[in-house]
Amino acid sequence: MAAGNIKNTIVLERNILITGGAGFIGSHVVRKFVLKYPQYRIVNLDKLTYAGNLENLKDVEKRDNYLFVKGDIADSKLLHDLFQEYSIKGVIHLAAESHVDRSISDPLSFIQTNVVGTVNLLNAAVHYWQSQTDCLFYHISTDEVYGSIAVPDLFTETTSYDPKSPYSASKASSDHFVRAYKNTYKLPIIISNCSNNYGPCQFPEKLIPLCIHNIHSEKPLPIYGKGENIRDWLYVEDHASAIDLLFHEGTVGETYNIGGDNQWKNITLVRLLCSIMDRKLGRSNSENLIEFVKDRPGHDARYAIDACKIQNELGWRPRLDLEEGLEKTIDWYLENEDWLERLTSGQYQQYYQEQYFNR
Ligand code: NAD
Ligand code: DAU
Repeated sequence: MAAGNIKNTIVLERNILITGGAGFIGSHVVRKFVLKYPQYRIVNLDKLTYAGNLENLKDVEKRDNYLFVKGDIADSKLLHDLFQEYSIKGVIHLAAESHVDRSISDPLSFIQTNVVGTVNLLNAAVHYWQSQTDCLFYHISTDEVYGSIAVPDLFTETTSYDPKSPYSASKASSDHFVRAYKNTYKLPIIISNCSNNYGPCQFPEKLIPLCIHNIHSEKPLPIYGKGENIRDWLYVEDHASAIDLLFHEGTVGETYNIGGDNQWKNITLVRLLCSIMDRKLGRSNSENLIEFVKDRPGHDARYAIDACKIQNELGWRPRLDLEEGLEKTIDWYLENEDWLERLTSGQYQQYYQEQYFNR
């Protein structure tokens, strides 16, 4: 193991463990790595919670360099077996409980996966990489660890942590553990903190897919509070490209912010969604579905990322702006109604009712 300010060089053959690869962002990352790096073996470890869906990876599941393992990152024996059996040299850690509203009703499951699970993974890496070189533990995190920021300021990599929700507190904790393992055990790590993602295969509990689904089926669009909160949106493929770049060319030991420079008020974003979908569906009145509902407790007012470090050091830029990304995203959801239908039947209905309209 070697941590420090050295460039992480491309190694030709490599066994990489991607956690949470059946989820939204993870499935885009797995696909990119499986197709772009046939010389790598990609082991996708996912517990398949409500958010994990192997349908997201149907097109790559039969590739020779891809392997799926169903399991929990909090299961330390399983992790040790995987590191040993597959000689894992790189970890891209995405597995998490990811939805803020769920963290408010069930914080412990967030601690279990996001904190305990991450520490288990760190322990396995420290144990197996003791006498190895060219290893990397890449931890995927969120801009929510920084809390809320007022106009016109931006989160930089040195902004103090100030998490406000159980979700962001659990992610902040996991980031601290990753840095502590770098300092204490010299584990080679990279952390990136990204803004709000959107795109194909996102579970319809998050604002954008929820609204696409509800506009399509002419159901209410629940806007928390006055809809004035601001988020910085990034198309998921742009995030996957940044992850690919950082995994191969990021400076070991460093943290990078990733963001779209695409800040939108929720209400403006939802109105834009309504107008694009009205055009595509030949309708004119989807905005009438908007309902202002009780605000999210502790709702962060504004997230806004300064992504200069990854831009200046590595030349990364988001390829799509929000309008282009939404067009692609809406087209995908309209073309994949079955995917959405399967997810939104059964338990989802009950969760959705409790979450938005019965509280
Ligand atoms: P997601 O909820 O869509 O997917 C999470 C995946 O992790 C699922 O496949 C789930 O089955 C799996 N998982 C959950 N608990 C597990 C466990 N204990 N063991 C193994 N697998 C488990 O999440 P996402 O939106 O794709 O986010 C992925 C990562 O990116 C998370 O770490 C999240 O904090 C981070 N992130 C997300 C966003 C965003 O906007 N969605 C932005 C920045 C960072
Ligand atoms: O910033 C990165 C984070 O973005 C990720 O770390 C999280 O995993 C991801 O879930 C996302 O968190 P948000 O809470 O910002 O995303 P969400 O889609 O839940 O909400 C976006 C905004 O829309 C937020 O201000 C809350 C609001 N909202 C959300 C829902 C689900 C509504 O007004 N109505 C809704 O029904």
